[in-house]
Amino acid sequence: MQKSLKTEFLGRPITSPLVLSAGVMGMAFSGFNISIENGAGIVTSKSLTLEPRMGHKGPVVAEFEGGLLNCMGLCNPGIVDGLTEIDQFKKCSDIPIIASVFATNTIDFLKLTSHVNKSKADFLELNLSCPNVFDEFGIPLAASLEEVHNIVKAVKQISKFPVIAKLSPNVYDIVSIAKAAESAGADALCMINTVGPGMLIDTKMVKPVLFNKFGGLSGSCIKPIALKLIYQTYSAVNIPIIGMGGVTYGEDAIEMLMAGAAVIGVGTAVHYRGIEVFNKINEEIFEFMEENGYKDLNNIPRLEKL
Ligand SMILES: Cc1cc2nc3c(=O)[nH]c(=O)nc-3n(C[C@H](O)[C@H](O)[C@H](O)COP(=O)(O)O)c2cc1C
Repeated sequence: MQKSLKTEFLGRPITSPLVLSAGVMGMAFSGFNISIENGAGIVTSKSLTLEPRMGHKGPVVAEFEGGLLNCMGLCNPGIVDGLTEIDQFKKCSDIPIIASVFATNTIDFLKLTSHVNKSKADFLELNLSCPNVFDEFGIPLAASLEEVHNIVKAVKQISKFPVIAKLSPNVYDIVSIAKAAESAGADALCMINTVGPGMLIDTKMVKPVLFNKFGGLSGSCIKPIALKLIYQTYSAVNIPIIGMGGVTYGEDAIEMLMAGAAVIGVGTAVHYRGIEVFNKINEEIFEFMEENGYKDLNNIPRLEKL
């Protein structure tokens, strides 16, 4: 059987449904290149802020049996240098790239959008969801219906590129938040960002493992939460969803599709299976399709909506 993993996202043809998630390979264009050489269909930049950020003092990442705990603190080179890396990547690749940006208010999101408009990025992702940055006071923007609606609406008015709203799982009512983004004009949703925050303790030192004490959870332990939130959201909105959270093997990616994701983000799994993880998951999706008689990705059934 002739099988294909070709699909499309927001009208752009892609060779694999796998998306490199924001932050996991940093901000250098070589990190994007190596991801596509290893099978990613779309890549996402680290979230960029107006000014460079050092991030938190280390340790910023800790591993535990269920995945990773991180409090990177959005370390990034700032929007100007970050977009230079994106433009450099686009000089040698026509694979779509999502420019991820982060701010704590509408005005700064608009300034970031003006910068991205001048770049060669393909999509703009608004990180509305980071839970571990001090100037957010720990509450993600994505926890407020009004904030989500106002930011997305304002950005849509000036963005040259399709706008993706990245949502936090750490909210009471994901469906209302997702609908607020959709009604404000978001072209797609990306979900989920890290869960928590949580904490690990070094019992010998009698202190938290992370210098910042708390961090966001990612990896296989968050997959059931991601699937549930994506399925609820898919049942309620009409825009495509980049589904992520704990995708490590082909079967996880199939679950994301069945929950309603249009394409699938891979992040923490790079830590566990190496950069080859994209090709490995592509191959495992192929095998699943072969065993179950699905000729292309669109034949894989989605769950009945809620
Ligand atoms: C080390 C690390 C850095 C991250 N940096 C960002 C970031 O800059 N912007 C963002 O929107 N999400 C960031 N994330 C969240 C991921 O993009 C993803 O939403 C989350 O980790 C869940 O997917 P996963 O379980 O496949 O990693 C980061 C995650 C990790 C582990």
